[in-house]
Amino acid sequence: MTTTPAAPSATSLITTLPGHFYTDPEIFRQEQERVFESLWFCAVRAADLDKPGAFRTVQIGRESVLVTRSRSGELRAFLNICRHRGARLCTQESGEVRRALQCPYHAWTYDLDGKLIAAPNLVKMPDVDRTEYGLVKVALREWLGYAWVCLADEPPSFEESVIGAAVERLGDAASIDHYGTERLALGKRVTYDVRANWKLIVENFMECYHCATIHPELTDVLPEFADGFAAQYYVGHGASFGEEVTGFTVDGSAGFERLPEVAEDQDRRYYAITIKPTVFINLVPDHVILHRMFPLAEDRTVVECDWLYAPEVVASGVDLAKSVELFHRVNEQDFEACERTQPAMASRAYRRGGVLVPTEHHIGQFHDWLTSRLG
Ligand code: FES
Ligand code: FE
Repeated sequence: MTTTPAAPSATSLITTLPGHFYTDPEIFRQEQERVFESLWFCAVRAADLDKPGAFRTVQIGRESVLVTRSRSGELRAFLNICRHRGARLCTQESGEVRRALQCPYHAWTYDLDGKLIAAPNLVKMPDVDRTEYGLVKVALREWLGYAWVCLADEPPSFEESVIGAAVERLGDAASIDHYGTERLALGKRVTYDVRANWKLIVENFMECYHCATIHPELTDVLPEFADGFAAQYYVGHGASFGEEVTGFTVDGSAGFERLPEVAEDQDRRYYAITIKPTVFINLVPDHVILHRMFPLAEDRTVVECDWLYAPEVVASGVDLAKSVELFHRVNEQDFEACERTQPAMASRAYRRGGVLVPTEHHIGQFHDWLTSRLG
């Protein structure tokens, strides 16, 4: 079921954040502390760590976080810092160790649960209590087949701040569970290094005013996007495929079989979800597209985008190109627009910001949410 409330009146002008919010290193530093290091952050796809000892390091706010699979098969997250003298423990972005993590500086060695298990001459250091000098644990939850981590001492409720955000957006009828995302296989991953502030990317994802101008392929598949209404505006609303369209592909040709639990009224529809601060999810009948953002500087954001399909589709070796190409083009078109906007944020023309069109009050809410977090 979809609900389509009336559009808000066009009388109240909503302005955006002033330009310096997108360029000021001090604001970015505050965001690192009060947003990225305080909320749940979607870090790593669980299946990427396919065996004990497989690890991946990710930058979250000012911290490097190490996510690894333990001997018992569970995912664990730690600050990627040796407790001896603070050297970065794993310097590679990903890799695999056999049984333990050894610091390359003085060879302190930790097991895959983070416990200090060996150090040269440890017997001569009776004051060092091994149990005190394990790696610093970071909270971790698995959802949708991803490891979500939180650096806060007291993480906010995962159910409310992460799962709740998806449920709130989709409504009960359009449950995200129907897509079985955690059971899907990775068909394609593209990493985009975007020279823009993370908020420009969020705002762009939340609006569709630009769709008619820069997304010809997408508006062919989803004709209502040509009207500029954001798919995220209405709770539970999925944008319908055009009449001639048979699949969510770059030319509207057939995609793959509908995922088994996708409901009748979710068929031939596209849903988009933003989970603050850094995740976007797109749901279509035959696949799920999940974006994770890694804001690295006030003017640089790495976006990792995964295209996820039924395992048998990926295993069959069928050509995914037309399916992947649609949103890959959308990504390139969006990120180019964000990169074109970024330098102008420092212009005096944008000192007081710009305006949002009336259907974008949810972007105004994003700004309110952000500014209240920053205090
Ligand atoms: Fe890691 Fe010394 S800093 S062993
Ligand atoms: Fe777009």
